[in-house]
Amino acid sequence: MGNKGYVWSLGGPLPVIDDHSLAKHEVLRSYLVNYLRILALSARSEGIRVTLVDGFAGGGRYRTSQGVEVGGSPLVLLHALREARAKIVLDRQARGIRTPYTIDAHIHLVERTPSSCAFLRKVIDESPEAHAPQTQVTVHQGDFHQTLPAILGDIRVRQRRTGRSVFILDQYGWSQVNLDSVRQIFAELPRAEVFLTWMIDNLVNFLSEKTVGALNPALQRIGLGDALTAEHLLTIKAADETGLGDLTWRRAIQSLMTDQIRLSSGATYSTPFYIVPRNSRRGYWLLHLARHLRANEEMKRIHWQNNNLHHPGGSGFNMLGYLGGNGQLTFDNRFDQHAQQVTLEALQEDIPQRLRSLRGPIRFGDLVQHTANETPACLAQLQEAVFTLARERQLMLTTQAGAARRTAHSVAEDDLIEVPPQLWLLPIRS
Ligand SMILES: C[S@@+](CC[C@H](N)C(=O)[O-])C[C@H]1O[C@@H](n2cnc3c(N)ncnc32)[C@H](O)[C@@H]1O
Repeated sequence: MGNKGYVWSLGGPLPVIDDHSLAKHEVLRSYLVNYLRILALSARSEGIRVTLVDGFAGGGRYRTSQGVEVGGSPLVLLHALREARAKIVLDRQARGIRTPYTIDAHIHLVERTPSSCAFLRKVIDESPEAHAPQTQVTVHQGDFHQTLPAILGDIRVRQRRTGRSVFILDQYGWSQVNLDSVRQIFAELPRAEVFLTWMIDNLVNFLSEKTVGALNPALQRIGLGDALTAEHLLTIKAADETGLGDLTWRRAIQSLMTDQIRLSSGATYSTPFYIVPRNSRRGYWLLHLARHLRANEEMKRIHWQNNNLHHPGGSGFNMLGYLGGNGQLTFDNRFDQHAQQVTLEALQEDIPQRLRSLRGPIRFGDLVQHTANETPACLAQLQEAVFTLARERQLMLTTQAGAARRTAHSVAEDDLIEVPPQLWLLPIRS
């Protein structure tokens, strides 16, 4: 992507897609296919209504540097819908479910730039998936924030009960999405999920005495003005005297921003990981925001399946800490085999420590919920760590029925876990 971003015009050349956008499309596709398949798990259900919103849609088509034509995010959504419909038929056949299942989907595409929007309309007109049964596509030319009330109104009318929807807010840079709009989405649609791209490195690079005057109005404009000021961010930068170069203050700022974006957006859970294609060192955040734990868990599972993602932070319950207890930069997580191992080891240290500070039993499900924003680990990794610790007698695991757990994946939400009293007195790491 050039400095001015992608440009589309009817009759003009297709923009060349960069590796980050390809990696981002792959994450979105796999997440959406999973999302729709999970919604179809109930054997008795005959279908759902769902809305997908691409708030910064672009022109809908690119070429790769090798000259191959590929779809933009609007086509990624439509292809994911087609793939999910096909897989759901097979999933249900395999389970012997005869009830037919339909996904009634409305896709809203918003693009502000007139020439890009004209191009997008042509791409959609020519797309067979956009004309599939039970599929409605609406292209809006305009600003996402101004279009949002009409989209929310449509979702309320069509899906009165659940409002299931996924919003993709794929801005350039970091200052185009106003978090007040994300807050409005979650206030009206608690089951909504939001993907938000955020070029955190651009913001951090921009930070200097000279830019304070421009940064504060930008923070106000995106809905972070009450939570953060440029002066505060500069103080963090100036206070860092650890000699670790600029990495520590950068990461302290990233950590602070992650929390503030989640709080200001009204989300309960977020995953703040980087999109970094395998052959690149540069990246930007693809934040996933949700109010329900299940969505957070599914996003983490996608991260562990896709090593275009990257997380320069802690691996146990120190996800946003970036600095370990020894003052060294924490792990550079590429969500690969090695990261799996490091994560399990970190959890086996952090879980007993957390339990010792509680001094009493806690439901396994509550531990998962309380630590969701603190760890990149997904449920299966937490189950495995707890199971291993119980086997090594470093914690007590009690099931509701008083039976023993024989496998890690059978560790259940209602199981109680606690550190044996004789281990309470071990020192707690700060
Ligand atoms: C990063 S590009 C989108 C790429 C696209 N999501 C994809 O993956 O193929 C951002 C797009 O958002 C558009 N845009 C910028 N500000 C906008 C706004 N406030 N509302 C709607 N679209 C906007 C730009 O014209 C540009 O086409």
